[in-house]
Amino acid sequence: MNNKTVVITGGTTGIGFACAAYLLDLNYKVIITGRTKENLEKAVSKLGENSTGFLSDTSSLSAIDDLVFKIKNEFGKIDGLFVNAGIFKASNFEGTTEDLFDDTMNVNFKGAFFTVQKFIPILKNPSSIVLNTSIVVFKAFTNTSVYTASKAALESLSKVLNIELADKGIRTNIVSPGVTESPIQKKSGMTDTAINELLNHFSSTSPIGRIVQPTDIAPIVEFLLSDKSLVLRNEKIIVDGGTTL
Ligand SMILES: NC(=O)c1ccc[n+]([C@@H]2O[C@H](COP(=O)([O-])OP(=O)(O)OC[C@H]3O[C@@H](n4cnc5c(N)ncnc54)[C@H](OP(=O)(O)O)[C@@H]3O)[C@@H](O)[C@H]2O)c1
Repeated sequence: MNNKTVVITGGTTGIGFACAAYLLDLNYKVIITGRTKENLEKAVSKLGENSTGFLSDTSSLSAIDDLVFKIKNEFGKIDGLFVNAGIFKASNFEGTTEDLFDDTMNVNFKGAFFTVQKFIPILKNPSSIVLNTSIVVFKAFTNTSVYTASKAALESLSKVLNIELADKGIRTNIVSPGVTESPIQKKSGMTDTAINELLNHFSSTSPIGRIVQPTDIAPIVEFLLSDKSLVLRNEKIIVDGGTTL
């Protein structure tokens, strides 16, 4: 019997949603967030009664405060936090605007940074934080400059957190997905043709012969959130079907 409660930011679609469904099957209590009401309602109704959804924009510090307050009141302390909410907008370096820079950094890095900070008081001892970064941190992809910088910044945080939060029993590890088929591609501004080319390329060149799915990421995240990974610190698990070998 599992009695752990975990929070997944950005759990309404894609990787976050697949992780929520996987954890619920293992009897975790799962709290998801998202910033689009319709997506949140759809997700919670699909996930069922052991799931709870909160509308919360991760790039807003007051929204994170409000989220932590509500979770504390309803659930008390939690066992795990999957820092997953993220956006990607395709843009070459020279065409990257200040707005695109700020939007990406505010969600992927600033939002993640302050989510971890503000959740500390409601994380149990021991508890686990998993940061969702990307293979872009170590393999260059065109049209991803700010996105890459945001994920590299997030990854760099993990080491420091593991030292500073050690006495609170909070550990941090990283999941680094490869190109994974999810709604993020449609939201990126890429054309359908460009998306198909990307997915076909990664299917045909991957040792696993197909594109990574959000459901492939879920067991890895569960492992990092669970006591099975109790002694891991700053471990990075690359989940890309071997595409970066
Ligand atoms: N798919 C890939 O190829 C891939 C590869 C490596 C890493 N990742 C990372 O995996 C994570 C999940 O991406 P995904 O592929 O599953 O994409 P997705 O389906 O678009 O999921 C993104 C999730 O984040 C939420 N979100 C976005 N901005 C938010 C904000 N400001 N506040 C709260 N929630 C917000 C979205 O909710 P709303 O719909 O309500 O906005 C959604 O639930 C991201 O961090 C992404 O960078 C993805």
